Amino acid sequence: MTLCRLGVFVFFAALAIALLLPATVLATETPDVSNIVFTPGRTENELNFTWQTTRRGTVSEPGVQVALRSDMTDAGFPEDKSLTFTGKSAALVDGRTSHKATVSGLAPSTAYIYRLGAGQTGEWSDIYEFFTGNVEAYSALLIGDVQIGAKDINDDVAGWRDTLEKALLIAPNAAFILSAGDQVQTSSSQDEYDGFFSPAPMKNLPFVPTIGNHDNNELYSYHFNVPNENFKSGATAAGGNYYFTYGNSLFMVINSNSLNYWQHAAFIRDAARKHRDARWKIVMMHHSIYGPDIPRSATLHMRKNFGSIFDKYGIDAVLSGHDHIYVRTRFMLKEQVVQPLDDFPARSTPPAEIPTGAVIKPKGTLYIAAATSSGSKYYDPASQFFDYLAERASPYVPMFSQINITNTSFEIISYRTDNMSVADGFVMVKPSTESASGSVLVISIPVIAVLGASAAFILIRKPPHVVPM
Ligand SMILES: [Fe+2]
Repeated sequence: MTLCRLGVFVFFAALAIALLLPATVLATETPDVSNIVFTPGRTENELNFTWQTTRRGTVSEPGVQVALRSDMTDAGFPEDKSLTFTGKSAALVDGRTSHKATVSGLAPSTAYIYRLGAGQTGEWSDIYEFFTGNVEAYSALLIGDVQIGAKDINDDVAGWRDTLEKALLIAPNAAFILSAGDQVQTSSSQDEYDGFFSPAPMKNLPFVPTIGNHDNNELYSYHFNVPNENFKSGATAAGGNYYFTYGNSLFMVINSNSLNYWQHAAFIRDAARKHRDARWKIVMMHHSIYGPDIPRSATLHMRKNFGSIFDKYGIDAVLSGHDHIYVRTRFMLKEQVVQPLDDFPARSTPPAEIPTGAVIKPKGTLYIAAATSSGSKYYDPASQFFDYLAERASPYVPMFSQINITNTSFEIISYRTDNMSVADGFVMVKPSTESASGSVLVISIPVIAVLGASAAFILIRKPPHVVPM
């Protein structure tokens, strides 16, 4: 058996074992809670919870109870050793109530359990668990355009669940899930949200949402509780821009349904100024400005205006979706390719801290567009290949990416979920002895070259691409 085949065998064996294990519901108390999700808080010490109750009546104190996992006993939730964090509630149109609360004071690398206010005082949800990670070196998952309901709610949820389970086998300690937007197909559909939040892993790690064009409705705002939200910046009916820090990284999430570039620029400027020490500045927004297709005038407009903001504030990476086709660009600055990979001279003695195949980050920004992570909708890219493209893939199977971040390196590894082969891999580094946008540029063989098999499914097919709206 070759190493490759052995790896695939081990993966699917692990998947089978994982599916046989008990779900992460630790104890059942009251079933009247749904649409549970939590986002990162302002820092790694906080989490922002959102959940719904469907029983009519009021929740006198919408709250999250949190305790150490190690204090859980056969007697159930250790209430006497827990902390309760209260928040606020809002009635929804169909008899449901939306609740939000922030948990603070979390320690790193710790296992916690939690439960949510389920109705009247003293009634609680099932008990779930989450883990806080090591912020010095962490992994995140990047997913795109789950878009539940684009094809069929049940089929789309099955695809979404499958992707999540496989992604968490690859990155079981992922710090959070980055979603590049279009969580649902119909922005006003509670049924689609019910499906979107139904996979069990959604209750076990933070989720970072982005407002896609399909999400742009007030209903979105009742499902997510995001940190540092700025309702004067990029605001639409669904919400505004927001940001958070996690260890060495500053994540700024843009609502690209708003094209008020002045507001977006001010938002990024203010967040970046408050966190000058951030090693990595990462933007996530739904619409890609460097996509797989011949750009429409609207895309060119966004490329010019968003691009100049990212140039000005030294954004390292922009994570997007919308096109349902995977794209990784070369480094872009002033709408030009800077240091194409082919031009990097080989370096025979790289510093020890630089992984094999890594690129020392030049000035400029790396753009990633995630493919669909549910398989609800696929597209073909244009037949033309553009200078800015380093990789483009539309394998017609769900994909996800693992992003690994340390103080010196940013790695992205992208997988197709049918056979768990690696579709793309890339590492950029900022050596600690050089500035964040160092001028020493180098590289050896990019990871993608090692993963040449992935080229087999790079589709070069008929244009044009109909942008999903
Ligand atoms: Fe979209």
